[in-house]
Amino acid sequence: MSATKKDYKRITTKSLTEMKANGEKISMLTAYDYSMAKIVDAAGVDVILVGDSASNVMAGHETTLPITLDQMIYHASSVVRAIHRSLVVVDMPFGSYQSDPKEALRSAIRIMKESGGHSVKLEGGSEVKESIKRILNAGIPVMGHLGLTPQSIYKFGTYTVRAKEEEEAEKLMKDAKFLEKLGCFAIVIEKVPADLAEKVAKSVSIPIIGIGAGGGVDGQVLVIHDMLGMNNEFSPRFLRRYMNLYEEMTTAIGHYVTDVKSSDFPNEKEQY
Ligand code: KIV
Repeated sequence: MSATKKDYKRITTKSLTEMKANGEKISMLTAYDYSMAKIVDAAGVDVILVGDSASNVMAGHETTLPITLDQMIYHASSVVRAIHRSLVVVDMPFGSYQSDPKEALRSAIRIMKESGGHSVKLEGGSEVKESIKRILNAGIPVMGHLGLTPQSIYKFGTYTVRAKEEEEAEKLMKDAKFLEKLGCFAIVIEKVPADLAEKVAKSVSIPIIGIGAGGGVDGQVLVIHDMLGMNNEFSPRFLRRYMNLYEEMTTAIGHYVTDVKSSDFPNEKEQY
């Protein structure tokens, strides 16, 4: 289908539904701080995800599990202060929604009230049904997340491709339809075979945003540090690097060190 690109002044959950209906692909990137979010928003990215991947790329943890609700709210409020156009989705961190639907609602309300984010994302399908229902009933838009769900890494044991076997593929399809029926406005599908992701995208009317899920879905998301090449230790097959910022930054910072050591910086024009 050829895209009819509409000029959206402000992206809402409704804009994303419209984009899917019009065959316009949705662009989504993560951001965790004010300065980066300002650039991402100005570049025209439709959705900014304040991902719990902040636990990895901002805090240096091995998994997404340690990041707290307070820390997610801090990142999200910094992002919200920077944006003019993008829709801001905030990840609900591990432990903030799984144990009890009332706690899930309290966590989602804190995110919306204290950060000013526009919606929340949480991982899982039918298992988290009651939490999703409560949050939606309070008028908070919810994005789902299926396939490789990093908060379950200790259940999976590996970050490898999910839903290669029929049983898991069937569950994923069922969960996607279930999340649509509950009222989620979109779903992230992470690291599953491309033909399965495409089938899911064709089976639901809400947008499917893929990461490592091929080109047959309604939009793409990447972690900004990965696509800018700030982290040269992470090279999954699905990642396209648009820059090698690790190299460019270490070279630039190396020049600064040399200039300071040699008393070349500051020169006469760079002082008062
Ligand atoms: O936390 C995150 O960055 C995510 C993306 C990988 C979709 O959930």
